[in-house]
Amino acid sequence: MTIKTLILAAGQGTRMRSSLPKVLHKIASRSLLEHVYDTSKQIKNNAVTVIYGHGGERVKESLAGLEINWVQQKEQLGTGHAVQQAESEINNDDIVLVLYGDVPLLKAATIEGLLEKVTDNSMALLTVELVDPTGYGRIVRNASKEVLKIVEQKDANESEKLITEGNTGILATKGAKLKKWLSQLDNSNAQQEFYLTDIIEMAVKEGVRVNTHQPESADEVLGVNNRKQLSYLERVYQTIQADKLMEAGVTLFDPARVDCRGEFSSIGQDISVDINVIFEGINKIGNNVIIGANSIINNSIIADNVQILANSIIDNACVGEGSRVGPFARLRPQAELAENVHIGNFVEIKKSTIAQGSKVNHLSYIGDATVGSGVNIGAGTITCNYDGVNKFRTVIEDGAFIGSDTQLIAPVTVKKNATIGAGSTIAKDVPEGGLTLSRTKQISLKNWKKPVKNK
Ligand code: UD1
Ligand code: CA
Repeated sequence: MTIKTLILAAGQGTRMRSSLPKVLHKIASRSLLEHVYDTSKQIKNNAVTVIYGHGGERVKESLAGLEINWVQQKEQLGTGHAVQQAESEINNDDIVLVLYGDVPLLKAATIEGLLEKVTDNSMALLTVELVDPTGYGRIVRNASKEVLKIVEQKDANESEKLITEGNTGILATKGAKLKKWLSQLDNSNAQQEFYLTDIIEMAVKEGVRVNTHQPESADEVLGVNNRKQLSYLERVYQTIQADKLMEAGVTLFDPARVDCRGEFSSIGQDISVDINVIFEGINKIGNNVIIGANSIINNSIIADNVQILANSIIDNACVGEGSRVGPFARLRPQAELAENVHIGNFVEIKKSTIAQGSKVNHLSYIGDATVGSGVNIGAGTITCNYDGVNKFRTVIEDGAFIGSDTQLIAPVTVKKNATIGAGSTIAKDVPEGGLTLSRTKQISLKNWKKPVKNK
């Protein structure tokens, strides 16, 4: 048995007031459509078709390379019409699952529960009890609570409008039956659209039972029609992520002020996260890590016992065990710190490895460098790695001491245990040990007189 998932994503999304197709708006850095696609991929034996329309090429490009059949709906004539476009993808013994591209938080477990309710002679419909069902299709049941049909808001009479059980739009049914029903749809309704929801009444008339299933929470089936709903679902999503972190043993100073826009390939225990921290991409974080306020951790590896102090940015970098970074530090791509490294305020590290126990504590730029262990880099040190055309490497060997305000003009090597005097411009390799400095001699003019102000 194969499941054919149809993701309806052709709608324009006028109320977003955006040039971007609605399904490409993002929650936690992933488009609404990606959320739905990723969830659908958790279902076994499942082939995904996306029905697209508005902004078609952009929608396709956004999911390029994924296993998707793309079907175009040139004109948006309704949800039933959208499904009709995919008819050739459906085999008689498939189970067809209909999802919406703008309902991003639906859980795979809910879909599985729904699919279990499909049999040869019954279909499954996901419904939801709503405090305010305005805008939703209403589930009309008979006295013995069996589903009879769905009435759209615009076609509902006064008593139907009082029904609080809403149609989520998500359903599953056998392919053969669906194909037959699709051929019978018409658009004689208030919106002159081909409603997919009309198949429910057709099923009932044929004696096909409509089994309903409910999500754990109504938030799971909320759609995005405007930016307010988008931001609401972002918060719902973030609350779920914060709960997961706390369950894993992370202390969040305020779970409402942390954002996870990616995943953790692994996460340790006793991590503490101050407010306004953003996690992006795929991060790996060890045990006993402290992350200070306003920090951004993106696609990085942070080992055990690391302290990231406030206002630091760790971007595609590795921080070794016991290291301390920040406050106000920036690790750029390919910054790799070994164990017990200290990176202080206003220090930027790019494409550089820094070995065990080395310190760059203040106001420095270290780019394209290989720094040994036990090195001390004084305040204001700059690796001049770029001549305007090419980039060159700086090598600083173990135990070197670089005086403050040194410029290291790459390519250049500072040998083991060398000391460089403060304020030096180093353009040639520095030998092992000893003191190297390049500095004009200091002079004092005893007879010098202060200028006097012109009258
Ligand atoms: C639909 C349901 C309604 C349900 C509600 C839940 C119908 C007739 N109504 O109403 O019962 O309560 O969803 O949110 O099905 N789409 C297309 N092509 C089209 C029209 C829509 O791909 O021609 C897609 C949209 O992009 C969207 C989904 O289908 O992802 C739902 O469309 P929308 O217009 O939002 O349906 P509603 O009127 O809200
Ligand atoms: Ca809708």
